[in-house]
Amino acid sequence: MVKVEKFIQDAKDDIVSNLHGKGILACSGGQDSTLLAVLSNMAAGDRILSVFIDTGLVREDEIHRVEKLFKSYSLNYRIIDASERFFKALIGVSDPETKRKIIGKTFIDVFEEVAKEYGAETLLQGTIAPDWIESGGSVRDVIKSHHNVGGLPEQMNLKLLEPLRDLYKDEVRDISRFLKLPADIQPFPGPGLAVRIIGEVTREKADLLRKITTIVERGVVQQYPDPDNRPWQYFAVLLPVKSTGIHGDRRTYGYTTAIRMIDTTDAMSGTFTKPDWEFLDNLSSEITNEVREVNRVVYDITSKPPGTIEWE
Ligand code: XMP
Repeated sequence: MVKVEKFIQDAKDDIVSNLHGKGILACSGGQDSTLLAVLSNMAAGDRILSVFIDTGLVREDEIHRVEKLFKSYSLNYRIIDASERFFKALIGVSDPETKRKIIGKTFIDVFEEVAKEYGAETLLQGTIAPDWIESGGSVRDVIKSHHNVGGLPEQMNLKLLEPLRDLYKDEVRDISRFLKLPADIQPFPGPGLAVRIIGEVTREKADLLRKITTIVERGVVQQYPDPDNRPWQYFAVLLPVKSTGIHGDRRTYGYTTAIRMIDTTDAMSGTFTKPDWEFLDNLSSEITNEVREVNRVVYDITSKPPGTIEWE
């Protein structure tokens, strides 16, 4: 049996033997949790409910895309709009680790409510190896508390099952391809746009960053049509720094956004992408033309290490 098929079989066995009662699955729409949703459905069918929580910190079109995918794989699913709750919990918070913990806790609170209603006893999560290694699960220091590890409350009322915990990103991609899942879903962090909004997170800032993100994603896909030659991750960060600019003949005082593009194979280390200037020039013009609140665009030239991929 080839490695991919063996992994699928092992994951299904793991789910079948460790699933207590009914299970609830945290699907963020990213590659990891989408793979987990499909594998869980293959292993346990409707005993598992895939839940997508709209935190208000997801990308444009994400909900529509996720729902389409859930439907096409005939998953048992629910989509819940909890955005008000997340924004309220984040009022006045700018510390990155506190943000992650609050988001993690709010996630779990919402899940626990849905799980109770559904009668689930197990929580399945798409945690993969870099998540727990970098969350202090090994001898290394805590680098970031990834929401699906560090944010868990001490007393959880659900049994935790993490069938992907030994996988690295490139393996997740291989398995997703094998299962004919979209291979070009770029990784998206659990805490969503919150870790790309430096400083306090508000709905207004999330709306702004959503617009910028769409422009960056659209531009990168046009520039790199072949998913195999595309940077691993490409996104924008909204900075709390305002600066002076000119729109037409008017002086403006607007936001700064940073574009981040990274080449890596496993997200553990990587180098910043070196696209051509014309592409960056166009991207910058599109952002400042389409999003009037932004008047300055910078490009992040930091590799990992020393920088992490996400800014927070
Ligand atoms: P960093 O920023 O630590 O990111 O270099 C490595 C990879 O992990 C993603 N990432 C996350 N994924 N929950 C996740 O499921 C998280 O909280 C989280 N934080 C970062 C990041 O986008 C990159 O692909």
